[in-house]
Amino acid sequence: MSHQGHIWDKEYRNPKLVTKNEGPQADTLRFLKFLKKEQDYIVENRTILDLGCGTGRNSNYLAEKGNTVIGIEISKTALSLAKSRAEKLGISVDYRLGDIGQDYDINNESIDIVLDITSSNSLDEKGREKYLSEVSRVLKNGGYFFVRALSRDGNKNVKNLLKQSPGQEYDTYIIKEIGLIERVFNREDFIKLYSSKFKIIHLEKKSSYTTFNNRIYKRDYFLAYMQKIL
Ligand SMILES: C[S@@+](CC[C@H](N)C(=O)[O-])C[C@H]1O[C@@H](n2cnc3c(N)ncnc32)[C@H](O)[C@@H]1O
Repeated sequence: MSHQGHIWDKEYRNPKLVTKNEGPQADTLRFLKFLKKEQDYIVENRTILDLGCGTGRNSNYLAEKGNTVIGIEISKTALSLAKSRAEKLGISVDYRLGDIGQDYDINNESIDIVLDITSSNSLDEKGREKYLSEVSRVLKNGGYFFVRALSRDGNKNVKNLLKQSPGQEYDTYIIKEIGLIERVFNREDFIKLYSSKFKIIHLEKKSSYTTFNNRIYKRDYFLAYMQKIL
């Protein structure tokens, strides 16, 4: 496992940042609603790839709704929790221990929807390049890609972290308490990166608050709904 993989596994063994919630994120539900209302696209009997699926919050929900789901996750601890929750729910998800910044053992153009819900922020630039080309390879033409990624725009905490605790790569910082490296984006860079391979059909910025070490931090995200159009 990579160094960042060990850090994520440690985080799941003694959570400081990740939540213990078992249900799907509100942002995932909004994305599904968007597909139904705005794209006339029902998410049932679809094949879905959940990148950095964590404890299976979204994977298990989508499998319950009658989809075939593959979840890739680097932390063994998170994955075993995801599996035991799926078992309890009586559903089946193809959970795989793996790195989303390396080759995916998935056929070309076999996936209807890819989810990256705050997972690829942990990749380095080499891993990010691989992730983008693998998502583009496995998605069907017309398939959807939902990304929630950390934004740096207008966030004072991020500005401080980039200054006081920078990582080695562009727009990265290290959360020293847990050793985690995160990549943050400004709007322009985010659009440039993703529009090189996908059509961005909806982009918004959203703020939320998280408690870390008994302090409340504002976290800003880009929520992007994209489509692979050949
Ligand atoms: C912020 S959590 C989000 C988890 C999940 N997507 C959710 O929304 O509940 C980020 C997840 O990505 C996983 N992750 C980070 N880097 C990864 C990598 N290179 N390959 C696979 N999973 C990774 C972490 O272990 C963690 O579970």
